[in-house]
Amino acid sequence: MAFSSPGGCALVLRFALFLFLLSNAGGAAATAAAASRRIPSRVGYKFTAQSQRNLLENGLGATPPMGVGMKWVLELQLEMVTADAMVSTGLAAIGYKYINLDDCWAELNRDSKGNLVPKASTFPSGIQALADYVHSKGLKLGIYSDAGTQTCSKTMPGSLGYEEQDAKTFASWGIDYLKYDNCYNTGTSPKERYPKMSKALLNSGRPIFFSLCEWGQEDPATWAASVGNSWRTTGDIADNWDSMTSRADQNDQWASYARPGGWNDPDMLEVGNGGMTTEEYRSHFSIWAVAKAPLLIGCDIRSMDNVTFELLSNKEVIAVNQDELGAQGKKVKTDGDLEVWAGPLSDNKVATVLWNRGSSTAKITAYWSDIGLKPTAVVNARDLWAHSTQLSLTGQLSADVDSHACKMYVLTPQ
Ligand code: GLA
Repeated sequence: MAFSSPGGCALVLRFALFLFLLSNAGGAAATAAAASRRIPSRVGYKFTAQSQRNLLENGLGATPPMGVGMKWVLELQLEMVTADAMVSTGLAAIGYKYINLDDCWAELNRDSKGNLVPKASTFPSGIQALADYVHSKGLKLGIYSDAGTQTCSKTMPGSLGYEEQDAKTFASWGIDYLKYDNCYNTGTSPKERYPKMSKALLNSGRPIFFSLCEWGQEDPATWAASVGNSWRTTGDIADNWDSMTSRADQNDQWASYARPGGWNDPDMLEVGNGGMTTEEYRSHFSIWAVAKAPLLIGCDIRSMDNVTFELLSNKEVIAVNQDELGAQGKKVKTDGDLEVWAGPLSDNKVATVLWNRGSSTAKITAYWSDIGLKPTAVVNARDLWAHSTQLSLTGQLSADVDSHACKMYVLTPQ
C-alpha cells in the first residue's frame, strides 16, 4: 500500500513525493473564472444545489492536483534526487509540479518555543533548504501534518492547538501544499478541527494548497469545499484490484460535489508498484483521470519501467483530468461487471470510459442517452490509449474490452 493505515507508520520513515500540475501563478484568476461558471447537467446526472458552493479563498486547485508520491526512507538526498528525476523523466514538463513530504519528517518533540523541528538525521539543513532546492527546479514543495496531538506514525507532533504557529512556520519555509491527517484527534469532529488550519493557512501570507485527509469519515464532500482544496473520500488505498475498485466506487458517490477549487480524493495512484496488471493499472489511471481525482503517482519514478511511464504520462488522459470545466465524471451505467463512466468536458466534449470489471472479454456499449449526448449527435471518438479516432459515430459507441481493462475516449460533437 502507498502508506500505512492510521497509526501504522511505526519506525519506518515514509513520505510521499507529490507533483501537482497547478501552479500558484494565475490560480486566483482561473478560480474566479471557474466560480462564475455553472456546470451544465447534460451528462445524464444532476448536480445538487449543495454543489453550487463557494470556492476556497486561496485561489488554488482550479484543476485537480497531480502528483508523484513515493515511499522510501526519508532522506534529504533522495528527496533532491527525486526532484531531479521529476525533471529528467519529463514528468515535470507534462505538468507534475509539486513534491510533498508525508509523515515522519519532524522530530518527536517541538522546540522550547513550540515550533516543529525538522528531523536532524534526515533533514540536517532543514526544510527551507529543501524548499529552495525544489523551487530552483521549477517545482513546489508540500508538507504533512495532522489535526490531532500526534501524526499517524506517532513519530512527530500533530498541529492540534498549534494551527496558527505551524501554518506560519510552513509559510516561512516556502511550503506550497499541506496534507492534513486525522490521527490522535481527541475525538472531536473534523468539522471543528480542519477549519482552524484552513483559516491559519489563509492567514499565513502564502497560498498553500490544503489537502484534507480525514478518510471520508464525516462525508467531507458535503462540507469541505469552503475549507480545503481536496478531501480524501476513502481510507488508504492498497496496491491490488479490490482496493483500487472499492476506492473508485466510494469516491464516485460524491461526484456532484467536485468543482474547480475543491476535489474528491480517493487516495494516490498505485500504478507501477507491481500489485496489479498493466490493464488494471490502465483502468486505475483512466478512472482517476475521468473522476477528476488528484493524480498522485505512488511508485518510485527514479526506477519506473517504460510501461509505467507510458501510463502515467499519457497527455490525452491527463488533459481529461485537467479539463477546465472541472466536472467529475462518474459511473453512469452498470450491467453486471460492465460499466460506463462519463463526464462533461469543456467545448461540449464528453469523456467516456468503457470498463470491464469482469473475468472475460466482453462488448460494452455506451448509448448517447447514457452519456448525456443528444440522440441526434454525430461525434468523433478519440481513443485516448490507442491514439486513434473513429469519425462520425451516431447513437452509440461500442468496443470489445478485455478483462479488467478499459477503453477511454473523448467524444467531440461535429
Ligand atoms: C494515514 C494517511 C496516509 C498517510 C499515513 C502516514 O494513514 O491516510 O495517507 O499519510 O497516515 O502515517
